[in-house]
Amino acid sequence: MYCFGWGRCYPWMAFLRNGLNGIFIVNYSAMRKKWICPPFAFLLMIFLPFELCLTYSCNQKPDKETTAQTDSIFNSPSNGKEVYIDLRKVLSINPRKNATDVTIQYDPFFKTAKKYRGYELNALVDSVIKSEHFDTVQAVIIFECIDGYKPVMDLSKIYDNTKGYIAIKDLDSNVKRNWPDSVEKMFAPYYLVWGDVKKEDNSFVWPFGLTGLRLMSKDQEYKNIYPYNDSSLIKGFMLFRQNCIKCHSLNKTGGTMAPEFNFPKNITEYWREEDIIAFAKNPSSYRYNSRMSPVTNVSDADFTELKLKIMDILFPV
Ligand code: HEC
Repeated sequence: MYCFGWGRCYPWMAFLRNGLNGIFIVNYSAMRKKWICPPFAFLLMIFLPFELCLTYSCNQKPDKETTAQTDSIFNSPSNGKEVYIDLRKVLSINPRKNATDVTIQYDPFFKTAKKYRGYELNALVDSVIKSEHFDTVQAVIIFECIDGYKPVMDLSKIYDNTKGYIAIKDLDSNVKRNWPDSVEKMFAPYYLVWGDVKKEDNSFVWPFGLTGLRLMSKDQEYKNIYPYNDSSLIKGFMLFRQNCIKCHSLNKTGGTMAPEFNFPKNITEYWREEDIIAFAKNPSSYRYNSRMSPVTNVSDADFTELKLKIMDILFPV
């Protein structure tokens, strides 16, 4: 399907010519000689409109959900518009002189004060909001990272006294490159930092490997997972939203760095509920080298409330 380079087209041609067998038994060098320009042109004519169509449909914004909503914080008057800011594109044309040097009071990754060069988050977002006429009422900002981590914050929070910066360079490191070797793979292209957040304040997110910002209304974001029909599940949903959704998805909504919990099978169909909770509290007691770090800021009572059965009642995708 992704026919970007000639090399990747060969399996398709083999498929058309030899049926399914051709997909699995592909002799590239022989094919290079046999397949010459006319078939390429023919295939291109067939697949190019198809590809364009696919690309376009991926970027389509879903129509605004018309489901009757309960009186909830997700009942917002937003116009349902969604805006994506591709940071690599936007910042590559943004003059470097617009970046400022900032001192960070306490960086939770390095556990110390730090200096970075970066772009002001709210100035960047503001310019996009204006040009796109984005409705900021009850909106959220989702930070999208290379590894599928997707933390979310209320958009209004980026206008707090504490300023956010999209850091492009670590100024404490004496290497010429933007990031010291030890973190370059994780941090590039960008790292989100906040001016003067207190050590104990974990209401700000510090994603690294940051590639994009997505702005949308709350109701739009959670329309596939909000328990509209059962208010007793709202607290559990909010806990899930607060603590799990940046990494895990439900009905394909949420982060992609960790397993999806409801599609195509609900996790409670193959994991016991008590194990789900115990795993979340202490992943390495279940799995050597688990990539999940323990969830520490959810009390036992809240964990009971979280009851992952919330997912049982979600409508299927
Ligand atoms: C910072 C990211 C992150 C957060 C937040 C997070 N997880 Fe995970 N979780 C992971 C990753 C990554 C895995 C993949 C498995 C591994 O590496 O062990 C995982 C795996 C799991 C699994 C095992 C599922 C499977 O099929 O292997 C469960 C259960 C789980 N998480 C529950 C939770 C719950 C409940 C929460 C919220 C209270 C949560 N996680 C929050 C990253 C996260």
